[in-house]
Amino acid sequence: MSELESLEALESEAREAIAGADGVQQLVEVRARYLGRKGSVAAYLRGVGKLAPEARGPAGQAANAAKQRIEDWVAARRAELERDATGRSLAEHRYDTSLPGAGAPHGRLHPLTWVLRDAVEFFSALGFSVEEGPEVETDWNNFGALNFPDDHPARDVQDTFFVEGGHVLRTHTSPVQVRTMTGRTPPFRFIAPGRVYRYDNDATHAPMFHQVEGFLVDDRTTFADLKGVLYAFARHMFGADTELRFRAHFFPFTEPSAEIDFSWPGGWLEWGGCGMIHPHVLANCGIDPDRWQGWAFGMGLDRTAMQRFGIPHIRHLFEGDVRVLEQV
Ligand code: PHE
Repeated sequence: MSELESLEALESEAREAIAGADGVQQLVEVRARYLGRKGSVAAYLRGVGKLAPEARGPAGQAANAAKQRIEDWVAARRAELERDATGRSLAEHRYDTSLPGAGAPHGRLHPLTWVLRDAVEFFSALGFSVEEGPEVETDWNNFGALNFPDDHPARDVQDTFFVEGGHVLRTHTSPVQVRTMTGRTPPFRFIAPGRVYRYDNDATHAPMFHQVEGFLVDDRTTFADLKGVLYAFARHMFGADTELRFRAHFFPFTEPSAEIDFSWPGGWLEWGGCGMIHPHVLANCGIDPDRWQGWAFGMGLDRTAMQRFGIPHIRHLFEGDVRVLEQV
């Protein structure tokens, strides 16, 4: 009976060790110590083989029953340890489902797109519709019809990029006036935004930039109307206290003409040009200048965006730096 007693002792010792295991790894080791091939129960069973034949049966059964119980305790302890581990990890990684989401970063409009759309919206409300023209233009549309004399140095003044076949990269959006007016009868109210090209490059000039042309032709309209519209546009874009400066200037396609500046840190910045459409331009487009009159302007959209968003260098608009885009 000493064998049975030592089995009981072994069993209660195993039970304590199992209860004391405080990690799955440790539990696995405890299990091996008692139930493994070289474990205590196996050693006990080897001892049973040496007993008297009639004692072997009951001793073997008792050992197997003990083995099963130990196995059950191990399984129960294992489940317990795993439950604790899950609970601990949940506690560690606890998060508050009622918190608002962090939000994904979202795209923005480029400053130029922003001012372009804003300009279109502003002029639409005044009854202007949008026209477009190609960036590669004929000499006639870019210069000839706009009253630039053939051999006049005025053609060089704008630092033109010439393209094969006598075409040019349009130096301004004014050729859209010609395209739009030719073959149509006034009244007209149009804006024509787009890219233009000049051989220029510094903080406020890029070789490619953007203008928005605007023109109105009717029975009777005056320079005062033109000024009123430009003031309204400037104050819409830059704020109600924006001041403009109109400087007398020369363009072959307007008479009289002016350049327009807006106030800019440390002075004035040129915003664009304007004037009453020259009678020759109307005539070149097949419109009777004795019957109709009009005005036109061409404003720099890049400078509009620079002024609107406080961007100090025109190149920032074209470098794709998201910090610029984030200002919109
Ligand atoms: N086309 C002129 C320029 O680019 C601007 C302008 C447009 C002036 C319309 C008068 C009228 O400098």
